Amino acid sequence: MSALGVEVGGLALKNPVLTASGTFGYGLEYDDFFDVAELGGICTKGLSLEPRLGNPPVRVCETPSGMLNAIGLANVGVERFCVDKLPVLRARGVTVIANIFASSVEGFVAITERLEAEAGVHAVELNVSCPNVTHGGIEFGRDPKLAAQVTAAVRRATRRPVWVKMSPEAGDLAAVARACEDAGADALTAINTIRGMAIDPETRSVRLANRTGGFSGPALRPVALRIVWDLVSAVKIPVVAIGGIGTARDALEFLLAGASAVQVGTASFVDPLAAKKVVEGLARYCEAQGVSVRELIGGVRSP
Ligand SMILES: Cc1cc2nc3c(=O)[nH]c(=O)nc-3n(C[C@H](O)[C@H](O)[C@H](O)COP(=O)(O)O)c2cc1C
Repeated sequence: MSALGVEVGGLALKNPVLTASGTFGYGLEYDDFFDVAELGGICTKGLSLEPRLGNPPVRVCETPSGMLNAIGLANVGVERFCVDKLPVLRARGVTVIANIFASSVEGFVAITERLEAEAGVHAVELNVSCPNVTHGGIEFGRDPKLAAQVTAAVRRATRRPVWVKMSPEAGDLAAVARACEDAGADALTAINTIRGMAIDPETRSVRLANRTGGFSGPALRPVALRIVWDLVSAVKIPVVAIGGIGTARDALEFLLAGASAVQVGTASFVDPLAAKKVVEGLARYCEAQGVSVRELIGGVRSP
């Protein structure tokens, strides 16, 4: 393994830098900028069983050091992903993490089963920050029992690593994390967005048509770091960090806190080369310090 190589729950990655779901399309959109196979991997836009148009505009707005989005999980659906996108990603040797979501356990299983028929998917990431219609609309990720149910059901439906993406809005996130670990998750990813909103005083109207949206970007980073730090001591499985990561220095904070890999999200909207630059910056750091990324993981020193 090279100085940058890491392993996340049985999956070997050439470097610890992935792109976060919903901020990098299906990977192919970034073709004009760089070869995405250079990354540790890409997490696809969230895939549902059927295609979705998502929410009406306005769906995004900028905030100081961040953004709000209420895309509404627009995506091409798992079938078109398998037919149109995956073969190209496979041919290019891209490590693909399929991010999936549904409003029932059966829905998660159906998407997983469809993906199971295809080569070229390296892991499945469960977006559990979505309402479970069969349990009164409570988000799977807020409740340890529901999170465990969906994890166990997907675990049974695939031979591939199962990653569960933590919602920072769960009351007792450590309990949700442990429930997912006990249910067979191979890794946790954290964090998803935090709900926020913005109002334009000129027009006196809410900025997003959906009124509220997911808050992401650099302003999220200290919160994400604290949550990743907590999760690393709550579970034995690896934690993949997400939240405001846009530079190698940001990535290093999370690796030192114990994350096994990182995902670059909103930063790709500011600079489409952000994820590639994080890889290059980590390579320079490791070279200068004479260390491997694996030696850095969890290596933060006490004050
Ligand atoms: C426009 C947009 C769309 C997103 N769509 C998804 C999605 O489909 N599934 C998912 O699990 N997370 C989604 N996310 C959350 C990101 O993957 C990530 O967890 C979050 O933005 C925090 O990371 P960041 O601050 O680096 O952007 C989305 C985020 C943004 C900004």
